[in-house]
Amino acid sequence: MIKLLVATRNRHKLEEIRAILGPGFECRSLEDFPDAPRVTEDGRTFAENAEKKARALAQWLAGRPEARSGQPWLVLADDSGLETDALDGAPGVCSARFAAEEADGPENCSDAANNAKLLRLLRDAPPERRGARFRCVMALSSVPPGETRFFEGVCEGRILEAPHGTGGFGYDPLFAPEGGRRAFAEMSAEEKNRLSHRARALAALKAWARDRGL
Ligand code: IMP
Repeated sequence: MIKLLVATRNRHKLEEIRAILGPGFECRSLEDFPDAPRVTEDGRTFAENAEKKARALAQWLAGRPEARSGQPWLVLADDSGLETDALDGAPGVCSARFAAEEADGPENCSDAANNAKLLRLLRDAPPERRGARFRCVMALSSVPPGETRFFEGVCEGRILEAPHGTGGFGYDPLFAPEGGRRAFAEMSAEEKNRLSHRARALAALKAWARDRGL
C-alpha cells in the first residue's frame, strides 16, 4: 500500500485520483490536514506549480508526527488546465482564475464564470478553430523532498458552442474529448476516468510504481 498526500482541496479532483489509482494507494488530501500551508500557484508552467506544491507540502509533512511512524508517505501534486487553439493556449495555467483575470484578481472563480468567459471569447470561432486540450502534470515528492518525479497526461478535444451535461467540474460542460460529440460533463465518472488527462498522467505514475515494485 502506497501512502499518498494528494495536494488538493478540490474534492472532484481527489475523487477522480482515488478512483483511477485504485486499491493499491491510500490517498489523503489537504482536507485531512487543515493546518497544511497554502501554496501560491504563481508558476509559468503546470510543472512549476505542481513541483512547488509537492515540495512545500513534503517539507511540511516531514515535520509532522504522522511522517515519523509506519509506512513512508509520498506527496502528489496535480496542476492541470485547459489550453485552447483559438486563444493561443489560454487559459492554461490560469484556468482556475480565468474570469478573474479581467479584474486582475489572484483568486479562483466559479466554474460558471470561467465557462461564460470562455464561451464569450470563442463566440465567433468556427469549428476548425475550436480545438483544445486538457493537460495535467503530476509532481511526486518523497518526504522530506528529494528528487521530484513528473508524470504528464493530455486529452485532446474541442470546445462546444454551449454547455452540455451536469457531471464533473470546471470546464467539463464545454469540452468534448476527440472521437465523439459528448462533453465530459455528459459522461459517467468511469467513462471520463478512462479518457482524461488525469487518467493518463496517473497511468504513467502507476507504471512507474509497478516497475519499482512499490
Ligand atoms: P488547479 O486546481 O490549479 O490545477 O486548477 C485546475 C483548473 O483547471 C480547474 O479549476 C478547472 O477549471 C480546470 N480543470 C482541470 N482539470 C479539469 C477537468 O478534469 N475538468 C474540467 N476542468 C478542469
